[in-house]
Amino acid sequence: MAIWNLGGINADHVYAVPHIPAPGETLDGSDHSVYLGGKGANMSVAAARAGAHVRHIGAVGKDGKWTVNRLMEYGVDTRAITTVDTDTAHAIIFVANDGENAIMVYPGANRVIPADHLKQALTQAQTGDWFVCQNEVNLQEKAIKLARDMGLNVAYAAAPFDPVITKSLLPYLDFLILNEVEADQLKQATGEGPADLPVKDVVVTLGSKGATWFGPNGQIDIASHKVNAVDTTGAGDTFTGYTLAGLDRGQPMEQALKTAAKASALMVTRSGTADVIPDLAEVQAFS
Ligand code: RIB
Repeated sequence: MAIWNLGGINADHVYAVPHIPAPGETLDGSDHSVYLGGKGANMSVAAARAGAHVRHIGAVGKDGKWTVNRLMEYGVDTRAITTVDTDTAHAIIFVANDGENAIMVYPGANRVIPADHLKQALTQAQTGDWFVCQNEVNLQEKAIKLARDMGLNVAYAAAPFDPVITKSLLPYLDFLILNEVEADQLKQATGEGPADLPVKDVVVTLGSKGATWFGPNGQIDIASHKVNAVDTTGAGDTFTGYTLAGLDRGQPMEQALKTAAKASALMVTRSGTADVIPDLAEVQAFS
């Protein structure tokens, strides 16, 4: 089977800083690196490195050829990435000494994906494939409804979080993944906690505390792995990509989530985004 990912592709400009700058504060950065990033691209790379066949749907500008080449190098099928007359998206990421981050995304090409392009790409999807998207692109609702009508399994990673969009998509989802803060915000918007949402499987990630799966058999906690975190950027995306790769391979949810927890723990020990996502052999060797 395959995973179809409608997702953002960013050039990540990562700056090492002593702490996250406060409003009005000017700081010296001690390092600047450019990585392939974007929540969508990170998930595609994670799922591909976990062994899945991933078809990424998205858009870059003429300046973004390197991002597509890099996705391809990492095993992602890039035939459904189109080039548009808008600059490729980029992110400015501050990573502080304690591993925390702050991110600003300039959406660029991610928000002008042509509807015809999406439709054309999805004609090749097959019943039983997975479809996933996040919130850094346009066309989420159209894509989710189309994927649902085609008999795909539909996943939504609700980041960057928007309670209104997330609430409107709930009826079409098989799988929803969000973090603790987002789960609280969604509860305020819907009046329902994760266990009561009308979605078969809901996963709430808890950072260094692991994750909780709210599924048909109730609530199951997934333990975290204690590591020395140097950069948490992309860890959630790695978790989602690995989970979907496991599900696409037919693994039970709990098994997929346990492997994803290992992959994201390993990810936070590394500086960078898509370029440093561990592969399955590294994850399996990690305990
Ligand atoms: O989740 C991490 C990602 O958020 C980064 O790669 C950055 O591009 C932003 O989209």
